[in-house]
Amino acid sequence: MPLVNAKEMLTKAKAGHYAVGQFNINNLEWTKSILLTAEELKSPVILGVSEGAGKYMCGYKTVVGMVNGMLEELNITVPVALHLDHGSYEGALACIEAGFSSVMFDGSHYPIDENVAKTTELVNICNEKGLSIEAEVGSIGGEEDGVVGAGECADPDECKRIADLGVTMLAAGIGNIHGKYPENWAGLSFETLDAVQQKTGDMPLVLHGGTGIPADMIKKAISLGVSKINVNTECQLSFAEATRKYIEEGKDLQGKGFDPRKLLAPGAEAIKATVKEKMELFGSVGKA
Ligand code: 13P
Repeated sequence: MPLVNAKEMLTKAKAGHYAVGQFNINNLEWTKSILLTAEELKSPVILGVSEGAGKYMCGYKTVVGMVNGMLEELNITVPVALHLDHGSYEGALACIEAGFSSVMFDGSHYPIDENVAKTTELVNICNEKGLSIEAEVGSIGGEEDGVVGAGECADPDECKRIADLGVTMLAAGIGNIHGKYPENWAGLSFETLDAVQQKTGDMPLVLHGGTGIPADMIKKAISLGVSKINVNTECQLSFAEATRKYIEEGKDLQGKGFDPRKLLAPGAEAIKATVKEKMELFGSVGKA
């Protein structure tokens, strides 16, 4: 199936009280592992690409070519959206041009009026071209691609203002953080999430910083309207751990163990296991 935008999968997720995972990709192995797992579990999936990862993979056109090629060659039948993660205004335009099916415009660091103006322009372009668009209110804490967010809780009235612009999905800061959570993390603010959902109604809400959020908090967040959950660091940690084990066991020194197709295989399997665990937790298995 060719790429789809994220609108239908997220509308169904919100109505069905589950969440679709966005898993960020970094290279061919990442993409292949995520797509194969989604297909095996009959789950819709969103492939996230940060601007930094886009550059690393030789630009958005390369990413679109790789993903489209895999959808066809791997006979992927489940709905897959290719989504820019935390895009700038210029980055969003570049991805729309390159053939992404979905973009996030992260205007959370602008004053609200500027966030509204830029989001409005991009909503109009995405509507015209049939893409889905995610907006953000209240920055997500921690560091993502060198962008450090303070982790504030979003103002529900500002969320409503942005939701009313016609975005497909809305990321609201609720005390979530990118990367590993610190020991003294206060947890998600369900009070904020509840207030945001009450103001924004059917709007699918997005939970960033999915790595390391305890299962009970994930389930509660889904019950309060979260329909998309982003996971990045956890796949990186699984990949690194499995690769470290392979090297530490000296497997690269045995026979043709240095062959990259062998060297990267345990990491790729570890990504699959992490993605499976998350899809089961989010409830998206069998929903494709
Ligand atoms: P983690 O790296 O904490 O999983 O966050 C991913 C994310 O929110 C991408 O936007």
